[in-house]
Amino acid sequence: MNLPHRISKAWVACTIVCATGCPDPGFTAPQVLGGVEVSADTLNHGKLVYRRYCSSCHGTEGEGSRLSGGGKAPRNLTSGFYKFTSVRGDGLPTDEDLTRVIKRGLRGTQMPGHDLPDEDLSAVVQYLKTFAPRWQAESAGEPIVMTENPWKGDRMSAITRGYEVYHAEAQCWSCHPAYAHPDQLLNMSRELDLRTGEKPRKSLKIRENTDHSRLVDTRYGKVLPPDFLSDRLPAAQGRAGLYRAIAAGIGGTPMPTWVDRLSDRDLWAVVHYVQELVRLRGTASAAGMRYGLPAAVKAVSGTTAKPPKALGQGN
Ligand code: HEC
Ligand code: HEC
Repeated sequence: MNLPHRISKAWVACTIVCATGCPDPGFTAPQVLGGVEVSADTLNHGKLVYRRYCSSCHGTEGEGSRLSGGGKAPRNLTSGFYKFTSVRGDGLPTDEDLTRVIKRGLRGTQMPGHDLPDEDLSAVVQYLKTFAPRWQAESAGEPIVMTENPWKGDRMSAITRGYEVYHAEAQCWSCHPAYAHPDQLLNMSRELDLRTGEKPRKSLKIRENTDHSRLVDTRYGKVLPPDFLSDRLPAAQGRAGLYRAIAAGIGGTPMPTWVDRLSDRDLWAVVHYVQELVRLRGTASAAGMRYGLPAAVKAVSGTTAKPPKALGQGN
């Protein structure tokens, strides 16, 4: 994309006055957004950036577009709900969160990355807050701070534990795919019962087609959560990105804030496990991960779990 790299203040003023034919004074007074005062100059500058790069998808008044994409359609920015943040659940994002999404875009959606000068990015971040009344009433949430990786030097054990947490404690497969056969899901849940001193359960409610994601209802419409072995993740990049997404959860969707539900060690274990799935995405080894741990981990940890015969693996 050829993006002009500077939007001058003079051009801002001129366009606001002339482009619409009638004099539009633009913003004449500062506004308090998310508890912070933002100058009229910044908002006018942000409006220009927005009109140039964003309104074709998000609408001149931030109303979004429902034409295509279901829950991944260009966002209605008046709702004040955001998915990819560093804050718990539905909390309002930090400026860094918004800047990250705008700069990098969201993979697998129409939202492109915008490599704009910092001045333009920070202005458009402030301007988009004017669409949603939430920003007048609330402040941004408290970002979750990433803890020190407690599994340093022992990635294989982290992946093995992450595999258990993903399938037993957290049941991430109630929305994302399971990377284990239903029999293994029941076994893992029984082992969890033993660990926690419960009577081992006899059965486990398992949805159909656990080897695929389940379409979930969200504030934005229906969304298919990613299959880590085949889909690119919309926002999370690297270990820090995965930690942020899993710890904070996805705002406006049923994906919970895991930092409050899992121990630090288990949260990190899931991060390592999902990172391994992502690393193997699209490779021949990914097929082997559909029903268990990667071969490398099995070799190290001596896990003997075999893919169940019923699946016809290797036949
Ligand atoms: C080609 C279409 C397109 C353009 C241009 C576009 N967006 Fe988006 N944007 C989207 C789509 C689609 C989504 C929703 C993706 C989803 O929900 O998974 C989105 C989501 C967002 C979100 C919500 C992020 C979150 O965490 O939930 C923000 C904020 C946003 N866009 C801001 C902008 C800004 C600012 C610009 C201009 C600099 C812009 N977008 C340009 C399509 C676009
Ligand atoms: C109740 C349903 C549900 C559960 C349970 C769930 N997720 Fe999600 N997950 C979602 C949805 C919905 C999305 C967002 C998809 C979108 O809009 O693009 C998502 C997205 C993600 C992403 C991508 C985030 C990004 O920034 O790109 C990761 C990683 C993730 N989930 C990991 C997990 C892990 C690990 C667990 C278990 C500890 C889990 N999820 C449990 C529904 C769920």
